[in-house]
Amino acid sequence: MDFSGAATSLGHRHPRVLEWVSRALEEFTGFTGLVADNPYTRRLASMLVSHAPMRSPLVAFASTGSEACDFAIQLARYYTRRTYVLSFIGAYHGLTGTALASSPSHGIRFSPPHTVDAVYSPYPYSLRCPFKTNDCDNAVLDYVRLLIKEAVPRGGLAGIIVEPLQSHGGILVPGAEFFKGLREIVDNEASLLIVDEVYTGAGRTGRLWGIENHDIEPDVVCVGKGIGGGFPLAAVLARKDVGENWPLPSGGSLGTYAGHVISAAAGIGVMEALINDGVVDNARSVGSRLLSGLRDLSDRFEFIAEARGKGVVLGIEVTLEDLKPWSRGASNIINALRELGLLAIKVGIYDNVVKLTPPATLSHDEAEEALSIIEEAARMVGKT
Ligand SMILES: Cc1ncc(COP(=O)(O)O)c(C=O)c1O
Repeated sequence: MDFSGAATSLGHRHPRVLEWVSRALEEFTGFTGLVADNPYTRRLASMLVSHAPMRSPLVAFASTGSEACDFAIQLARYYTRRTYVLSFIGAYHGLTGTALASSPSHGIRFSPPHTVDAVYSPYPYSLRCPFKTNDCDNAVLDYVRLLIKEAVPRGGLAGIIVEPLQSHGGILVPGAEFFKGLREIVDNEASLLIVDEVYTGAGRTGRLWGIENHDIEPDVVCVGKGIGGGFPLAAVLARKDVGENWPLPSGGSLGTYAGHVISAAAGIGVMEALINDGVVDNARSVGSRLLSGLRDLSDRFEFIAEARGKGVVLGIEVTLEDLKPWSRGASNIINALRELGLLAIKVGIYDNVVKLTPPATLSHDEAEEALSIIEEAARMVGKT
């Protein structure tokens, strides 16, 4: 069972993806996306526009999530004619220059590029709020306001880039008030809210887009991973006036393979499954069963301090006494899971969260089987 949640929301070899990719392969292998469009990429673009988390955006395709986030930030800087970007500790927006500069996370930045005037805030983390309060969302909002006031030149903020739920940071789920607060802050600053949906999009959180859990409209959205059904595909959706401002047509600088015809065909299959086949609802219901099972394990095993997440983006935080992060314990669980046939990986600012992100197509029977495996792994680790 693949709970490592890499590049697909639909699992491997989903029939809708196979059908659309086979159809496209009959017509195309070569690709001239930079100078001529094709019916597949065009069709996917209109599906993304119809189901976007904001009204009538423009779409620019890319090949990877990193390129999408990089372009989103470039777009915000170009539109606002400002340079500063605020992002959150624990974020992961990618490995290209501008995105990497906005990703203050261990294990990623070994030679930080200085391409963005960046300021960083903690992200809401209720179990370990750095502000030592139970209302971490509001404490973080206060800090963000202070940071903008004191650390950003007046009128200098191009935008805030944020994930609807941090995966790399440790499966951290802020409340809706947090995102409303961010929306207000960017509106007051006349800057843009960029939402990175590379991980949380494509139905994973039980809504088509993660930000739809929070009832606000972003200005720019980065899309990747799951949208390609296993093929390299990413996109940026931008508010029309923001996108129109960019000097080159079709996003321009997003690369030779941006919106590749075969990946776009796979993307159509993914969107069809998400919209027509109840996959998003499934993510919500199977995810809530998994979360309640994981919470039950957290009650029974002392070293599982917390189970949390949304939809099928879930995790358990592994600790010693007094909430001391237990990174080795998380590794032990992951190794035990692998032995028992379930793939998972470790994330978290303290490197102690087992990330459990199955495809959105997981059945309820498979969820029960996974919970038994996770319980068995916890038992194995409990004895070591
Ligand atoms: C939230 C988020 N943004 C951006 C990226 C970068 O995407 P890619 O690996 O396709 O470049 C990732 C990858 O894990 C991600 O999780």
